[in-house]
Amino acid sequence: MFDGHLDGLEIVLVAEFQTVEHDVLVIGAGGAGLRAAIEASAAGVSVGLVCKSLLGKAHTVMAEGGVAAALGNVDDRDNWRVHFADTMRGGQYLNNPRMAELHAKEAPDRVRELEAWGALFDRTKDGKILQRNFGGHKYPRLAHVGDRTGLEMIRTLQDHGIHTGVDVHMECTVLDLLTDDGRVVGAFGYDRERGRFKLFRAKAIVLATGGIGRAYKITSNSWEYTGDGQSLAYRAGAALMDMEFVQFHPTGMVWPPSVRGILVTEGVRGEGGVLRNNEGRRFMFDDIPANYRAQTADNEEEGWRYTQGDKDARRPPELLTRDHVARCIMREVREGRGSPHGGVFLDIAWIKERIPNGAEYIKRKLPSMYHQFKQLADIDITQVPMEIGPTTHYAMGGVRVDGDTQMSGVPGLFAAGECAAGLHGANRLGGNSLSDLLVFGRRAGEYAARFARESGAGSVDPQKLDEIAKWALAPFERAAGPAAYEVQFQLQEMMQDLVGIVRRQDEMERALDGLENLSARAAKVSVPGNREYNPGWHTALDLQNLLTVSEAITRAAIERKESRGAHFRDDYPEKDAEAAKFNIVIRKQPDGSMDVRREPLPPMSADMRQVIEEMK
Ligand code: FUM
Repeated sequence: MFDGHLDGLEIVLVAEFQTVEHDVLVIGAGGAGLRAAIEASAAGVSVGLVCKSLLGKAHTVMAEGGVAAALGNVDDRDNWRVHFADTMRGGQYLNNPRMAELHAKEAPDRVRELEAWGALFDRTKDGKILQRNFGGHKYPRLAHVGDRTGLEMIRTLQDHGIHTGVDVHMECTVLDLLTDDGRVVGAFGYDRERGRFKLFRAKAIVLATGGIGRAYKITSNSWEYTGDGQSLAYRAGAALMDMEFVQFHPTGMVWPPSVRGILVTEGVRGEGGVLRNNEGRRFMFDDIPANYRAQTADNEEEGWRYTQGDKDARRPPELLTRDHVARCIMREVREGRGSPHGGVFLDIAWIKERIPNGAEYIKRKLPSMYHQFKQLADIDITQVPMEIGPTTHYAMGGVRVDGDTQMSGVPGLFAAGECAAGLHGANRLGGNSLSDLLVFGRRAGEYAARFARESGAGSVDPQKLDEIAKWALAPFERAAGPAAYEVQFQLQEMMQDLVGIVRRQDEMERALDGLENLSARAAKVSVPGNREYNPGWHTALDLQNLLTVSEAITRAAIERKESRGAHFRDDYPEKDAEAAKFNIVIRKQPDGSMDVRREPLPPMSADMRQVIEEMK
């Protein structure tokens, strides 16, 4: 416990704080954080795990339909090479090829390991882990547990993790990272319940805080996802990369308004669900991209046979990549062929015409979707189509890391899972998030433990702690000012309207002006009440991170003058071959402004180039 003394110094602080020490501190307790903590702990170092909310509540559970791994259980033509090539093609070749290679090679072992730790996957008739189709994956590749795969993964990792001696700090928000001579030495935050400050001293830190979904109005992300890891890393001196690539999952709920954005798993389409407009037409057949034409069915019958496991059939166009499907849905809505509440129809009920006991089959394969629609929208998905539309789901961009170790440019600072960039390039394939967090969570944990063992503790600057504490408490000192929720709401509306699925230079420039304005308002936010569980205060503190990631997304999106993957520009609707050669990298300048640069893609090894050639 801190008592006013630090490293022998008597200091005057605006607030007292508690001190805890770990060799490795993992910030974020979704799949990537848990997997990193397990690995670091297994390496014999002391580990602390910080959760913004309660342990087990994580966006990982929103990857419902499965974890991608080339086990080849359902189609023995599958292997890591095909998975690698699919991931690179889905990411439009902006992926870090080393990460895509490690991911494809290691995902099967990570899934089998999870099973050994107690995860209960659905089975094939001969008792192997069952795999289903998902967009952009050539073969059925997603190991799953109905439509609750992420939940099962979190449950398993949590059960395993708590027996490995990891110290869990629940309901704790980290406000800033602490550095000493350029390397990371700790983090300063507060516990959300009582509002008391907490100093974490650590030799290495793994960021695993997930995404940025709360920068947008319509999102599958819950309140925790405010770009914390990305902003913490950026302020500590690490580079952000690929921030322009925000994934809008094609299928979120659109009605009633209170549940707008909640995810409707791609597993619905993997099980034969089809998309129709208000004329009843399967509009996905209208626009099949040239690079997927050979693999995609051009008639309904063939698409159905594919979902039923016919190895000679080609995939239905509903299983094209998410970026493409989301844009086709937007087109139907914009051109007046949408559903009553601004989406389109997703129909799984139709498979009853083809499958005996179809309603029971749907309930067995998609139990969460059945309950979600029944309870939240009073819709029985075994009888009628769902209304769906795109929802902000995932950030492909994030902290730039080394492909093998996951260390950022700041020594001792690692990042894994959604808050790290590289694996997914311009667009992520469904199910690759869960395998990403297993593969790279493990790697981040291993290398962070190694770094901690080889490093001393470093020293913490008390002045810095004082500054952070004063900044955090300032909203209570202001007698009048905007409410935090109001600023957050305006930001979300603006990002949705001006930097959403379809982008234009003039609109994004307006967004930059708007962000400047909102930053000024955020600096004047006032918060009533006290520090004990005060959601207004928590929101006020999150604003800085939301504004940072929103600015990074907007600046990167302005810089990329082409359309590629999840980044679609109305004013540059084509791909530009020159733009295929760089990532957009953002760093904090000494004067506080953002430095935006094009940097060449990491090189691809000759072996991997050959794999891509073979798969073509
Ligand atoms: O649709 C889904 O089940 C989501 C999966 C993912 O984002 O990987």
